[in-house]
Amino acid sequence: MERQEEQVEQRRRELIRAALKARTFSYSPYSGYQVGAALLTETGRIYTGCNVENAAFGPTVCAERTAICKAVSEGEKKFLAIVVAGSPKGEMTQFSWPCGVCRQVLAEFCDPDRMQVIVAKSEEVFETRLLGALLPEGFTKKNLA
Ligand code: THU
Repeated sequence: MERQEEQVEQRRRELIRAALKARTFSYSPYSGYQVGAALLTETGRIYTGCNVENAAFGPTVCAERTAICKAVSEGEKKFLAIVVAGSPKGEMTQFSWPCGVCRQVLAEFCDPDRMQVIVAKSEEVFETRLLGALLPEGFTKKNLA
């Protein structure tokens, strides 16, 4: 197993717990869809986020981007994994994969061949994909270099 995979595996339960806790702070009065995210940085820190909706709908921010903006605004720009926990209000019934915009924002900061995207219903029930599998042939800063 690669070092990054091991690091993530060691922290996975903690990350899932953090995402589930962040989900409890979801501000989603319009959709009733509650999402929490937990982002692991290369420095070993965890940044969490929830979805923050708005009466004008358009300004709504997803849980993943909330976590990414919190991390970047504190000087962290390298990430190893993100856990997303989303379902309609109440019990965790779904695997909630990141939306297209969040995949693109993740691609700005992560190596698509290494970054693990984990969707979880609980500490025991989860699925993992590499970001590259979720955003194949993505447009990134490499295109502008
Ligand atoms: N949502 C997220 O937080 N992350 C995603 O990747 C998909 C959607 C939120 C946005 C909105 O508040 C609610 O889920 C329903 O779309």
